[in-house]
Amino acid sequence: MEKKNIYEAKAVSKEEEARQKGLAGDRLFTLSTQAIGEVEGKTVLDVGAGMSTALGAWVKQRGGEYIAFDIQEGVIREHAQAGHVAIQGDIAQAIPVLPTADIVHVRLVLMHLIRQKRNRAIEEVFRAAKERCLFIEPDWTEFCGNAVVNRLRDLAIRILGQRMDLYLGRTLFTVIANVLPMSNGRLITEKRLPPESKKDYRELVQMTSALKSNAVENMTECILATEEIALAIAKEAQKDNRAFFTPPRFTLVEVKKGCGQD
Ligand SMILES: C[S@@+](CC[C@H](N)C(=O)[O-])C[C@H]1O[C@@H](n2cnc3c(N)ncnc32)[C@H](O)[C@@H]1O
Repeated sequence: MEKKNIYEAKAVSKEEEARQKGLAGDRLFTLSTQAIGEVEGKTVLDVGAGMSTALGAWVKQRGGEYIAFDIQEGVIREHAQAGHVAIQGDIAQAIPVLPTADIVHVRLVLMHLIRQKRNRAIEEVFRAAKERCLFIEPDWTEFCGNAVVNRLRDLAIRILGQRMDLYLGRTLFTVIANVLPMSNGRLITEKRLPPESKKDYRELVQMTSALKSNAVENMTECILATEEIALAIAKEAQKDNRAFFTPPRFTLVEVKKGCGQD
């Protein structure tokens, strides 16, 4: 059964808002900013921008223009309040919905779309990009740690795995290469963030927030387990001698336009 996009039906919960805002300054933020690179005089379109306005601030500070695009009204309001150009729309529609931009950034969005919509979104992003498109998606294959971390991972796979593709990063390159016709002249490259071990549990604490908001619609048993694991992770995060864990990997696929070859 294909998974339903959790963002189509309901507003962003407080927990999810906090999680997205907490991402600023972390490894995902660095991955995005390094991939975007020089922005002076350029327009960056952020598709499925989410609640964090940090990337927009980063682009503007460096002399670029930033446009947020998202399906959620709350996200658009947040960006408008931060002084960003913000457009509400559904990336997966049959008609063109995006304004053109030099660089189009799409992070953790395709994982929420069913295949047909995901393919349409890739085509639309490619059409809108004048120079490059950047797609970033997760791959949970190597995510592991001690017993507490593994319990969190297994519960997350059970709850979130029903609604989104937690492993899209593994096949992202092929998915994109299959959708974009060769004749359009594009160069596709892939970078997979190495699975570095870390002791910083902040990312896991944020993950428990995402679980809490999604478990609400799930079984009571999951809600109880989430509460218990969230407490255990919070406790673990405070320990000085906490164990290392390997977080989910991220895959970045860059599509350059006008290159005439693969
Ligand atoms: C997991 S959040 C990622 C937010 C941000 N890109 C980040 O990396 O922190 C997914 C975002 O994509 C948006 N989204 C989901 N489906 C969409 C669609 N069909 N069209 C436009 N935006 C969509 C959601 O509203 C949400 O803000």
